Amino acid sequence: MAILVTGGAGFIGTHTCIELVNAGYDVVVVDNYYNASPKALERVEEIIGKKVKFYECDVRDKKKLDTVFKENKIDAVIHFAGLKAVGESCHKPLEYYDNNIGGTLALCEVMRDNGCKKIVFSSSATVYGMNNVSPLTEDMKTGGTTNPYGTTKYMIEIILEDLYKADNSWDVTLLRYFNPIGAHKSGLIGENPNGIPNNLMPYITQVAIGKLDCLSIYGNDYPTHDGTGVRDYIHVVDLALGHVKAVEQLKSTNGGVRIYNLGTGKGYSVLDIVKAFEKATGVKIKYKIAPRREGDIATCYSDPSKAKRELGWEAARDLEEMCEDSWRWQKNNPNGFDD
Ligand code: UFG
Repeated sequence: MAILVTGGAGFIGTHTCIELVNAGYDVVVVDNYYNASPKALERVEEIIGKKVKFYECDVRDKKKLDTVFKENKIDAVIHFAGLKAVGESCHKPLEYYDNNIGGTLALCEVMRDNGCKKIVFSSSATVYGMNNVSPLTEDMKTGGTTNPYGTTKYMIEIILEDLYKADNSWDVTLLRYFNPIGAHKSGLIGENPNGIPNNLMPYITQVAIGKLDCLSIYGNDYPTHDGTGVRDYIHVVDLALGHVKAVEQLKSTNGGVRIYNLGTGKGYSVLDIVKAFEKATGVKIKYKIAPRREGDIATCYSDPSKAKRELGWEAARDLEEMCEDSWRWQKNNPNGFDD
């Protein structure tokens, strides 16, 4: 069974390709390398011990994408390709809507024309907006997103649901990720942010390696156990395995839309993460308390029980392992894939 992975050279994409291959699937990757490096796929090949079929292609390029479908018998698509920086999306809304929405529309059109109607979409906990109370369940109201990035995820969920309403032979799985961190055990692949990281774990690892001086903790007056923001951090390999389970499920479905949270169900604060990182690695993290970051909420964690019930998937890697693996990747590759 062949799976097309769009954005397969990225952080979650590379880890998912490895787990798909481990589970016996053939993988075809498309990526435009806008936010990813060819080195990442070379490392994937090193890990799995074989070549990955790859096309340098922007998913908005329908003609090129069509040749990918014509040259391969694609059974299902995992769609990761898209822009993903919350802050940047506020300054470049047109680029975000064009890439994320335009890319998904083009992909679905080419899929339909080639008779492939099974898609797993890389959605986000951000679709739950600001007003739901954690633990978040899949049936909660979505929308009320606070930035164009989040709005693209919300809109794409609706587009895919409409697609199914119009044609019941589509199989759509929406996976809502919480906060992916960690890296492959080999230390060969991991998160490789452009410039100064926005997300907590890459910021911490860059302070640890000495590239950044001091972590700013955005707010310590939230209504949480220590005042700092609480999130549901999930190991990227667990997340990747969730995709394998979703693909597994698609083998026996005959149309439908299924939605799953991929999280651990546990909430950790920023200070919990700093302490866990220090304990797991023995490296001290310099930090200071800074004002709250606009758009942040106090607490966000999942109820992951639906994925366990219906997909037979559950996160297995704990926070210590997430910290160790994030650090191994950073330590071995101080400049990411540029080393
Ligand atoms: N934080 C800091 N300092 C930093 C970076 C983050 O204190 O330098 C804090 C944040 O305030 C928040 C927590 O660490 O409390 C996690 O922040 P991240 O930026 O790592 O992650 P977010 O929860 O803000 O955002 C993530 C993804 C988004 C996604 C969102 C969905 O990055 O893509 O989860 O809930 F939309």
